[in-house]
Amino acid sequence: MLYDKIKEYGPNTFVKCEEGAAPLDQNIERVLIPKAGIDQKVKELALAISKDYAGKNLLMAGILKGAMIFMADLVRAATIGVQFDFMAVSSYGSSSQSSGVVRIIKDLDQNIQGRHVLLVEDVVDTGLTLNYLLEILKAREPASVAICALLDKPSRRVVDVPVDYNGFVIPDEFVVGYGLDYNEQYRNLPDVCVLKPAAYATAK
Ligand code: IMP
Repeated sequence: MLYDKIKEYGPNTFVKCEEGAAPLDQNIERVLIPKAGIDQKVKELALAISKDYAGKNLLMAGILKGAMIFMADLVRAATIGVQFDFMAVSSYGSSSQSSGVVRIIKDLDQNIQGRHVLLVEDVVDTGLTLNYLLEILKAREPASVAICALLDKPSRRVVDVPVDYNGFVIPDEFVVGYGLDYNEQYRNLPDVCVLKPAAYATAK
C-alpha cells in the first residue's frame, strides 16, 4: 500500500506509515533509529556537553551539511550558552565512499585560538575526514578540540579518531535522514534510515 502511494505521488515523495513514524520511499530499506530515539540521545549528549563545558565559552563547529540538523537540535538542548559556527568540506570520491582527501569549501568564520572547540559531525565512518579536520584545527592553537558525532561506524575505521561524545554505534550500512544524504537526497527524513544497497551500488 505504501508503494502504491509512492507511485501515486511520484518517486520523491516520502509516505508516512500509518503510525506516522517511518517515511519511506522505494530506496529506503528500513528505519534504523526513529526520531524519538534520536531526540532522547540528543538530550543526553547536550546535558553531558553542558556539564563538561560549564563556564568555558564553548564554540560548537558543525560540519555542513550533514550535521546541520543534529547541531540545531544539540545547541537548543544545551543548558549552557554556546556559540556556533560551521565548516563545509568535500570529500573526493563517490557519494557513498570517502576517499580521505578533503577540501575545505567553507572555513570557520571565527578565530579559534584559545577557544574550546567541539566539532559536531553526523557520522564517523573511515575517520579520514575528522582526522584531517582535527589536524587543521589543532594547528590554530585552540584551548581544546573535541568531537561529538551522532553516529559511529567503528567497523569501517581506517584512522583512529577520538570520538568524545557519540550518539549511536551503527553497523556498516549506508544511512540517510536527519541531515544525512545520498546525492543530496533524504536529508529531511526525520529518522535515520538504511538506504537499500541497490540505490548506490552503481555509484561505487
Ligand atoms: P569518513 O571520512 O569516512 O569518516 O566519512 C565522513 C563523511 O562521509 C560523513 O560526514 C558523511 O558525509 C559521509 N558518510 C559516511 N557514511 C555515511 C552514511 O552512511 N550516510 C551518509 N553519509 C555518510
